[in-house]
Amino acid sequence: MKYIFILGNNPELSKAEIVAVLPQAKTIDSGKNFLIVEHAKIDCDKIINRLGGTIKIGIVLGKNPEFGPVLGSASTMSEGKRFNFGFSFYGQKPSNIGMQIKGKLKEQGIASRLVTSREPALSSVIITKEKCQDFLVGSSFFGMTCAVQDFKDYSRRDFGRPASDALSGMLPPKAAKMMLNLAQVEADQIVLDPFCGSGTILAEALALGYKHLIGTDLSKKAVSDSIENLEWLTKELKIKGAEWEVEQLDAKKLSEKMNETSIDTIISEPYLGKPMKGNENEEIVKKIIAELEELYLESFAQFKKILKPEGKIVLVIPEWHLHGKTHRMNLDLRLNKLGFKRLDAGNLIYKREDQKVWRNITIWKK
Ligand SMILES: C[S@@+](CC[C@H](N)C(=O)[O-])C[C@H]1O[C@@H](n2cnc3c(N)ncnc32)[C@H](O)[C@@H]1O
Repeated sequence: MKYIFILGNNPELSKAEIVAVLPQAKTIDSGKNFLIVEHAKIDCDKIINRLGGTIKIGIVLGKNPEFGPVLGSASTMSEGKRFNFGFSFYGQKPSNIGMQIKGKLKEQGIASRLVTSREPALSSVIITKEKCQDFLVGSSFFGMTCAVQDFKDYSRRDFGRPASDALSGMLPPKAAKMMLNLAQVEADQIVLDPFCGSGTILAEALALGYKHLIGTDLSKKAVSDSIENLEWLTKELKIKGAEWEVEQLDAKKLSEKMNETSIDTIISEPYLGKPMKGNENEEIVKKIIAELEELYLESFAQFKKILKPEGKIVLVIPEWHLHGKTHRMNLDLRLNKLGFKRLDAGNLIYKREDQKVWRNITIWKK
């Protein structure tokens, strides 16, 4: 079957995540905000919940909008009730196909409501609230939405958790989920976040069903925040059978407390330096970069000891976008010398346009 994935704000990252979660998927077409793949039948609800970077999944019906499939689904889905439906246009000017279909449905005696919005595409919020069947129209595809991202679930985990630390910054849960998926970890493997902060990555791992989690952080507050958040999530989602521990520990000293080759995967967003106002001069940025290079290199030297052979690391590496210039740390060659191989192509960026510090999601293998 052919499936359309409508991608979130960081499309390259979303595409890489889909390929990691569905390794058998054969890419048919891809654009700025979509990916079309061929795959054996998937459970749309299960896969949308698994993915952090996909907004909608749809089944491809053809290349151009057609009345037939819409009228067909209206007669099977409405079952005497009103058929709520809408169209989402991607890279396309919205057309009046919805009104035409509404007219045809009326002729056939099917009551319907056409759901519209100010944006060319219906959001997952509208689709969920209006309980409507969404159809997807792009320049090269026509499809029928089979699942949309559960926005309530994310906002409950993002804003509903009891402990947060705005100062050190929290990774959005969707980004944490994408990082976990990119690592392709098995549920029974041991995952470590050595800069766990308030525990976003550990929480998403718990929600995804991972069973063995370790979090460490230099800050005592981060440790107690993580514990509070993980206890909360365990109750909220009624999670059973997962083992997790969180301890105060300097990432530069991991091997003093952890056994050699005991960890399968490290997934983390380390310290990103002080938040930037935007008026910092180059001197300051260079100083931050030098400090962070030392922290990251020393941490990787520790990762080398505690990771199992072939163990993977998915790590946020910051890059600074200031005064029209991009500043990056100089790590790749030094990490290669330490014995790590970089697996990503350097294009997995998680950012908002107004942010000065972008997160480059990097993947490494020991
Ligand atoms: C950007 S925050 C991580 C936020 C986390 N991903 C979350 O969503 O809550 C970076 C964390 O690194 C911690 N940290 C800084 N230096 C450290 C070190 N040497 N060893 C361990 N943790 C450190 C800070 O205390 C902070 O909690």
